[in-house]
Amino acid sequence: MADLYTNAPPVLAPASAEAKNVLIQANTVESILPLNVKSLRYAVGAAELIRGVSFVVQRGSRNIVLGANGAGKSVLLRLLHGLLPPSGGQIEWAHSNAQFKQAMVFQRPIMLRRTARENIEFSLRLTQRGHRSRDSRGHRSRDSRGHRISDVASAAEAALDRVGLAHLADRPARLCSGGEQQRIALARAWALSPEVLFLDEPTASLDPTATKAIEEIIHAINKTGTTIIMTTHDIGQVKRIASRVLFLHRGQLIEDAAATPFFETPQSPEAAAFIKGELLW
Ligand SMILES: Nc1ncnc2c1ncn2[C@@H]1O[C@H](COP(=O)(O)OP(=O)(O)OP(=O)(O)O)[C@@H](O)[C@H]1O
Ligand SMILES: [Mg+2]
Repeated sequence: MADLYTNAPPVLAPASAEAKNVLIQANTVESILPLNVKSLRYAVGAAELIRGVSFVVQRGSRNIVLGANGAGKSVLLRLLHGLLPPSGGQIEWAHSNAQFKQAMVFQRPIMLRRTARENIEFSLRLTQRGHRSRDSRGHRSRDSRGHRISDVASAAEAALDRVGLAHLADRPARLCSGGEQQRIALARAWALSPEVLFLDEPTASLDPTATKAIEEIIHAINKTGTTIIMTTHDIGQVKRIASRVLFLHRGQLIEDAAATPFFETPQSPEAAAFIKGELLW
């Protein structure tokens, strides 16, 4: 269920009338949120990497999983996205089609050996497999929502345009810079219209300008109704993005708070130390 293989309806350019219909449809289908995580555990041998974590994720929220290196942030995200099997506890989505309505972007973008546009088209076509109808000559013509297959190309272009990379549509994705590749990865995930977007340290290897661009895109994606669940250990980034903070320490969730109270009145000595920039291990 990596970002490339996540199944969700394609979205079109926000400006088009058809896109508005898509958004209205998306709002009326059953939501996979809230997500209810109960006593989640993940162990490898004797090592307990996630130790009894419980929390709820509400629709539209921007959740940041914060913690020091090795705290268990990536493992937690991979468990939630279904890339790792839990050792115990439950991950309860509100609807059974959850796997088709989430996408994930990783720290290092995974680009196919194709152009930027083709990377997005490929991902969109994967989501249509098995759902297409055929025309009178038996050719596949429309997907299950009635969108023309040819719309995939324009949806991919619109997705690149939304992240400011329309001019790179025909460039081989792997020749793009790290920041550009990460924006393509975000465009690809956004094009799938996921209800939940997981991001694992998406700016960890980027400079401040590229980081700012990515953060703006994350806010834009959230404004279209996508719930954000993201990891970072960058305090400044948490302040810029989070509506809610999940503070992880050695595999345990020791703080779960709205962003403002988390910073103003941390409830645990570990969170207070982390906010002050003191090392935790
Ligand atoms: N498959 C595995 N087998 C054994 N240990 C693992 C495995 N995967 C992760 N770990 C360990 O689990 C701990 C948490 O790893 P994780 O990658 O989730 O940390 P993180 O909070 O994302 O750190 P970072 O900020 O460096 O990305 C680390 O100590 C890591 O070495
Ligand atoms: Mg990590």
